Amino acid sequence: MTDLKAPYGALAYFLDLHPDVGDFKTDVLTGLAQPQKSISPKYFYDECGSKLFDKITALKEYYPTRTEKTLLLSSADEITAAIGARSAIFEYGSGSSEKVEWLVRGLEDPVAYVAMDISKDHLIDSATALADALPVPVAAICADFHAPVTLPQGGFPQPKQWLGYFPGSTIGNMLPETAVQFLDRASQTLGRNAKFLIGVDLEKDKLVLEAAYDDTSGVTAAFNLNLLQRMRRELDAVLTLEDFEHFAFYNQKKCRIEMHLRAMRPTTVAIGEQKFVFLEGETIHTENSHKYSIDRLRDLIEQTPWRLNHVWTDPKNWYAACLLSNN
Ligand code: SAH
Ligand code: AVI
Repeated sequence: MTDLKAPYGALAYFLDLHPDVGDFKTDVLTGLAQPQKSISPKYFYDECGSKLFDKITALKEYYPTRTEKTLLLSSADEITAAIGARSAIFEYGSGSSEKVEWLVRGLEDPVAYVAMDISKDHLIDSATALADALPVPVAAICADFHAPVTLPQGGFPQPKQWLGYFPGSTIGNMLPETAVQFLDRASQTLGRNAKFLIGVDLEKDKLVLEAAYDDTSGVTAAFNLNLLQRMRRELDAVLTLEDFEHFAFYNQKKCRIEMHLRAMRPTTVAIGEQKFVFLEGETIHTENSHKYSIDRLRDLIEQTPWRLNHVWTDPKNWYAACLLSNN
């Protein structure tokens, strides 16, 4: 544990690269015109979606958050020792930034914490609250992590190395080939000697998985259906919400949970001049959540510039925390 400096009262830095509503419209129009209609899961996260995600993390069926927290806390000494002194932390998809305090307090002489997320209001609220609570400068960047991003220079002392941090198994929401591209870009962004700590959800019983993505209280359904409400709010989409239902299942062949919005009866979605017809049972594919084995995880990392230093798993082998280093 390091000496704690006095807390900083506000953000050291805020950079707004939030994609605009035009991108959302273009992506939705393109996605709904495909034979298998689809919309990127990044559009789940407006202010309402981020709040619903936080509710998901507290559900009894949604094991990933509590499993990861327990794993990180029980391995904290080993993880922080392996990372080394004077790191600046860059968190991808930081959400409510609820998994960073142990890291900041456990690392030797951390230099800064930079939160990066696409959900702007939620990011500002979470980062501002953290700036009051953490003993290091806190900065925030609102951006899409699939796009190039430059690390903040200044606003805090020069770190010895950057530590990328990507908990929550958000990497599982990417196709494996997209995850490789993401890791490639992160290697360039974070630079030489960087480390990367990533949380990854592992394969497990289908029933456990399907319950986690179709909870009995309907919070995951509300999270999925919020995408249609967001289309109404931001794109003036004309649609009947009651015509759609949440549908989630484990695709065993592709080792992933798939979430869809399924039309319960023939219906249409209109956005401006464009009209999209849905047959009964037709779906919009809204999310994949890939579940890895350690071997497939190793294969994936081998396709990137990163080297796998260490993998920590929980006693049930449900979840992995991986520490990578940049060559
Ligand atoms: N890290 C947190 C939150 C995970 S939820 C945790 O472990 O609990 C996934 C987070 O990634 C959300 O906050 C969402 O807004 C963000 N996100 C999703 N797609 C994104 C994208 N393309 N670019 C940046 N952030 C994104
Ligand atoms: C953010 N991500 C890792 C979550 C997951 O488990 O794939 C998103 C989520 N979707 C439904 N429930 C949670």
